[in-house]
Amino acid sequence: MAAEQFAVFGHPIAHSLSPRIHHAFARQLGITLEFRAIDAAPDGFAAAVQSFFAGGGIGANVTLPHKGAAYALAAERSVAAARVGAANVLTRLADGRLAAHNTDGAGLVRDITARHHEDLHVHRALLLGAGGAARGVAWNLLDAGVQSLVIANRSPLKAEQLAAATGAQGQVHARGWNQLTEAGSFDLIVNATSAGVLGTPLRLPDSLMGAHALCYDLAYGPAASSFLGWARAAGARQALDGLGMLVETAADAFLLWHDHRPDTEPVYQRLRTDTV
Ligand code: ATR
Repeated sequence: MAAEQFAVFGHPIAHSLSPRIHHAFARQLGITLEFRAIDAAPDGFAAAVQSFFAGGGIGANVTLPHKGAAYALAAERSVAAARVGAANVLTRLADGRLAAHNTDGAGLVRDITARHHEDLHVHRALLLGAGGAARGVAWNLLDAGVQSLVIANRSPLKAEQLAAATGAQGQVHARGWNQLTEAGSFDLIVNATSAGVLGTPLRLPDSLMGAHALCYDLAYGPAASSFLGWARAAGARQALDGLGMLVETAADAFLLWHDHRPDTEPVYQRLRTDTV
């Protein structure tokens, strides 16, 4: 029997860890599958996805810059995908149409709470950025118990739009980047900007750092080093990168496709040793 076909779509995609993660999960469970990385430029994304699924593909992960386009292609959408308006997982339904899911926020929360045993019932949390990555996690932070959330963005309008979209009036507040010096201090600071990926500096006042703050960068590797370096220098109690989130979001996709939750810890530990 031919191996079941899975893929990750992105642009660029050459350095994606998803094929490695899914092959490792599959080995754990004795499943034979093929998981490819497919580089699709934005104007060729829809055609590439259609051809993959028409050729027998069962499921796909989707990463930058295609999460919005993946959501638009799908005929059915999970609640998590619908509130974000973006998808990181596509699954072929029995009738050949596609279902969109978003496992980013759940992956972040599981990494923080289950792997790192941190409590998200914090008083004051700060989400840096209001783009796609920030949208992917904002609701989950609130669901996980964050009591008040400040969303800060260089362009304040986007922060206001995301704050309004969460519908949590009084609990979520928007700030412009230049208002951060008066924003007080936080128990949790999540970096969801693309500054690290773009290699541009993030300018943050040390006054943001609460006495026992947890800092988390959604990125991992060199892209996370600038924010995490600032966090440690400013006195963070704990500074974490997003490698664990990546593994957890992949595990949720694996569960959707194979009906089994893999053991993420050995896969995470192996990647941690090899990549950072
Ligand atoms: P992603 O999907 O990675 O979130 P995006 O939707 O383009 O990408 O959003 C990028 C986010 O990083 C935005 O919030 C952006 O701020 P603006 O909306 O003001 O552009 C933020 N960002 C990127 N570089 C930044 C920098 N050097 N300092 C602060 N914010 C930055």
